[in-house]
Amino acid sequence: MTAPLLTEIDHVAIAVRDLDAAVAWYSETLGAHVTHREHVESDGVEEALLQVADSYVQLVSPTRADSPVAKFLDTRGEGLHHVGYRVADCAAALESITRGGGRVIDAVPRPGSRGTTVAFVHPKSSFGTLIELVEEAPPAGR
Ligand code: CO
Repeated sequence: MTAPLLTEIDHVAIAVRDLDAAVAWYSETLGAHVTHREHVESDGVEEALLQVADSYVQLVSPTRADSPVAKFLDTRGEGLHHVGYRVADCAAALESITRGGGRVIDAVPRPGSRGTTVAFVHPKSSFGTLIELVEEAPPAGR
């Protein structure tokens, strides 16, 4: 038995073509407001975080054609992109998943938005859903 690695749902990420239109819809229709907005150059995305209790809805939109989110929108269309789970220690969680035979996208943790440390688990080993591990601290040594 594996000890629980996931402490909370950090965010549910939804790929959208028009970030401003999606932000306006969530705000006007659902009353969910943006608490953080960031251009993540390394991923080629602009993201808006809307707080829901202790978690977020993360609306993501590509900023360039070679962004993975641009490819996702082309092949799958708008919709659920990944689920981000909080972990106490991203490196340890990644190591545990790899040891258990899980396929990962990031061999080592990397910087995420909001000063977090993140790593992605490949959807092929997690029944079709891209999983992001989120540690609420910047990578060690940064
Ligand atoms: Co995310």
